[in-house]
Amino acid sequence: MDPVIKKIVEFKKEDIPEYEKHLMLGGGTPGVNLVRGENVYVYDLDGKKYIDCTSQSWALHLGYAHPELNQAIKEQIDISHHFHTGFYTVPRYLLAKKIAEIFPEKMNRVLFTIGGGATIEAALKVAILNRPKAHNFISLYGGYHGTSFMTTGASHTGTMASGSYHGGADLAHFIQNFIRVPAPYYYRPYFETCDIDDRDEIDRRCLEALEMQIKYGSTGPVCALLMEPLQASGGQVIFSKKYLQGVRDICNKHNIILIWDCIQTAFGRMGTWCAAEYYGITPDIMVLGKSMGAGYPINAIVINDCLEGIKMNGIDLHTFGNNQVSQVASLKMIDIMQRDNILDNVKKVGGFIKDGLLEMQKKSAHIGEVRAIGFHIGIDLVKDRQTREPDYSGCSAVRDGGFNNGIIFGVGGTGQGKSVLKIKPPLITTKEQGAEILEKFAKTMQDVYGEKL
Ligand SMILES: Cc1ncc(COP(=O)(O)O)c(C=O)c1O
Repeated sequence: MDPVIKKIVEFKKEDIPEYEKHLMLGGGTPGVNLVRGENVYVYDLDGKKYIDCTSQSWALHLGYAHPELNQAIKEQIDISHHFHTGFYTVPRYLLAKKIAEIFPEKMNRVLFTIGGGATIEAALKVAILNRPKAHNFISLYGGYHGTSFMTTGASHTGTMASGSYHGGADLAHFIQNFIRVPAPYYYRPYFETCDIDDRDEIDRRCLEALEMQIKYGSTGPVCALLMEPLQASGGQVIFSKKYLQGVRDICNKHNIILIWDCIQTAFGRMGTWCAAEYYGITPDIMVLGKSMGAGYPINAIVINDCLEGIKMNGIDLHTFGNNQVSQVASLKMIDIMQRDNILDNVKKVGGFIKDGLLEMQKKSAHIGEVRAIGFHIGIDLVKDRQTREPDYSGCSAVRDGGFNNGIIFGVGGTGQGKSVLKIKPPLITTKEQGAEILEKFAKTMQDVYGEKL
């Protein structure tokens, strides 16, 4: 065994303090100390096994150590792994063509980048190129688009949503071009005076607020509207097709470029290749990342044929924007997904988990709402189902209790804590593994709330 790898596999828990003091972490929800993974399972330093419902920030669509994926990567490493962005390279040709094939008809040109925030900014650069006289951007309450200077201005983390400013709010003076407008969070609408069960009314009010902002609240024209088609970090908030179509129509009417941040929705998690396919609505620019490389770092934007594309003038350039290992991982992942009908699996097993959760909800005083499309599953935990008061400490206790029971849940939401438990496992999760997730969730709920589900 290579001595470097040997050091890693022989690392002991007792060694941690000596090393930890040299590290800085800028965010994330602390968890256990993970060492290795296989299929949908991970193992910690003590060798304890967990079923992973986070896919490690929703990135590992094929789970851990997929043998065919690993084989393709090993073969590619022996050919090349890093040629700079300026050189013409074959895996990038293959991947760009493949992406154009699987995404909607008019989305045909791809720019490869690296990192979520930088990729959103690449999308904004394309928008500016196409609307040079417009300097404002709109994003939605509860949206999350990364932590670069500019995307902090679009993400909920820089607002008072959590009760105090954090997540880069101090950088506000660098990021003033974003205006935020309300999103239709139906379960807890931002409007205090509305019928919380009337989703059409909430849609209508959000669309009205958007249009008013464009007409009366923007000094100079709006260049682009940036949004997630499904707000993931914000709490798995699913929007209606009617609302999404309304946004599309308003953007068309006011000549605003519609950017969908598809970093969490693309490549199959909804049971379709992308949200545009799911809803039958096409944005002007799609932003891709996370699962795109099955866990290997790679991001991209795809732009609509109606837009002028980015030029070879140094406007968007990254040393590691052309990583062939990541590109091969992406190509291989798409191949495997197509061959094994993984999208059908997402619909089938995702539906099975959703049905199981809805059955449990009937018996629970704390499952406020189950929000699920495919493997995009959120469970909003509440103190009281009538008042819908979020249960931040309960959600945190379920996450922690999950570690005891051998399951890793994600958490999300934009309030003064996180009340939404996330179940977003690798897309290869089988029905049996789906049953294991349900069983471990029920056990953890019993431990925390004493409810027998
Ligand atoms: C929708 C969305 N956009 C952007 C980002 C930022 O991506 P990254 O963490 O790769 O910078 C994230 C990350 O969670 C995300 O969920």
